[in-house]
Amino acid sequence: MPRKKQQKINEAKQINNIVDYTDKTGLGRLETFVAQNKPIVLELACGDGTYALSLAEIYPNKNFIGVDIQGERLWMGAKSAETKELNNVIFLRAHIDHLNQFFKDKSIDEIWITFPDPYSRKKQEKKRLTHKKFIKIYRQILKPKGVLHLKTDNDALFDYSVETLGVAGAKTAVCLQNIDKYLDKYPLLKIQTFFERTHRASGKNIHYLNCAFR
Ligand SMILES: C[S@@+](CC[C@H](N)C(=O)[O-])C[C@H]1O[C@@H](n2cnc3c(N)ncnc32)[C@H](O)[C@@H]1O
Repeated sequence: MPRKKQQKINEAKQINNIVDYTDKTGLGRLETFVAQNKPIVLELACGDGTYALSLAEIYPNKNFIGVDIQGERLWMGAKSAETKELNNVIFLRAHIDHLNQFFKDKSIDEIWITFPDPYSRKKQEKKRLTHKKFIKIYRQILKPKGVLHLKTDNDALFDYSVETLGVAGAKTAVCLQNIDKYLDKYPLLKIQTFFERTHRASGKNIHYLNCAFR
């Protein structure tokens, strides 16, 4: 592993607003954060946490948790949160596959999934964050009527997700193929992550849906 990357991972373990799933003290900090009696919003596959950070600025009365397994990307988000003096956002380095070990049933108000890897090959299907295995976990931790947001550039993943969420009983409230015409109506969609900017630069359309479980 490159020295700089390893250095960021090690540093991430020392930063107060990053909780590593291997660190028991950190998990105590996560519990305290969640227990603050504010709505909890997760950004999954958050990378550097652009959505968590931007939403945390817009909604100071909600608490945001960015989740990703890549420590060096979380490090960038955590540093930004420190610089902006945001105390309503923290980051969890963990596998999304085990989210239900960190959050109680029916405790989460909203989930954003931002530009998840498409895992296009059939044999990778179980890694897609909208595979039924993951949806089961989201459903378990979301409050009744809690909203799941998905933003992606990938046409096939978007269609796949519409189907898997529908089969799981989610009721879709908003489903937009190419969000650009709708940005004034849904201003939160104006927030652009690193991957969104990259995909836009290569001419891709961006899709969005939100849904809740019955
Ligand atoms: C394409 S990047 C998107 C990052 C960011 N949301 C953005 O738009 O810039 C996908 C991210 O998902 C994370 N990821 C994929 N599967 C994961 C899993 N099962 N658990 C935790 N993180 C995962 C990767 O580490 C990666 O940072």
